[in-house]
Amino acid sequence: MESEETVFQHFVEEINHNEIHQIKIVGKGSFGTVFKAKWRDKFVAAKYIDSAGERKTVTIEIRQMSRVNHPNIIKLYGACTVNPICLIMEYAEGGSLHNVLHGTPVASYNVGHAISWAYQCAQGVAYLHNMKPKALIHRDLKPPNLLLQEDGRILKIGDFGTACDLKTYMTNNKGSAAWMAPEVFEGCSYTEKCDVFSWGIILWQVLTRQKPFNEVGGNAWRIMWWVHQGNRPPPIENCPKPLEDLMTRCWSKNSDERPSMNDIVRIMSSIFRFFP
Ligand code: ADE
Repeated sequence: MESEETVFQHFVEEINHNEIHQIKIVGKGSFGTVFKAKWRDKFVAAKYIDSAGERKTVTIEIRQMSRVNHPNIIKLYGACTVNPICLIMEYAEGGSLHNVLHGTPVASYNVGHAISWAYQCAQGVAYLHNMKPKALIHRDLKPPNLLLQEDGRILKIGDFGTACDLKTYMTNNKGSAAWMAPEVFEGCSYTEKCDVFSWGIILWQVLTRQKPFNEVGGNAWRIMWWVHQGNRPPPIENCPKPLEDLMTRCWSKNSDERPSMNDIVRIMSSIFRFFP
């Protein structure tokens, strides 16, 4: 019989730098640079980490991504662990959901797409939360970390760079304030329900195509203060009642009052039937 370890740990290879042929830059962040690249006969995303200080974060990312195997989560094929450290991942040619929602040229999509993205994201996150022996909390769900394939039909969760310790998390993730559950930035203990809060914000965002808390301005501290005081995104005109109820429950201040990701998947699957 297979042990739990072999069931969950799909094999991640050590890859040699000279096997990777960079094609173009597709993303840049505080961690380094993501290239579209060719590795063996596949297009891949090669994420180069440029500061040695990030080594710990990357090790966490490799360890976490290697446990994961789900259609709505970007696969890790391997890593070069000699400098420059580089992760070789499944490539998503559609870019990020953030670009589709807010980029130029303006992409067209309908409510069916929006619901499908939210539903697929929920399935990926539910898988993470159901992992044994220990649930995986993503902690940084937001549209820049959600990637698209097949003309936007498939959505995959794509970034696991979030460090486990809260101090690193809060200093590295100022750009994530709009999706962050209040207990996280308040420094309280938190559970996988922080991902449920973020998911609720994402649902609002795909339905409205607006950036959350735009009305507060871009400052992360002001957004945190605003959310801490109990403010949430405004109601959506003509929003189907089941979606509105679900969204607002996800934003409950008390995380116990938020639905579980399994609840969300169940509810979204019945809503999705009306928007095939
Ligand atoms: N940007 C960051 N990760 C990516 C990926 N896996 N595919 C395409 N673009 C990306």
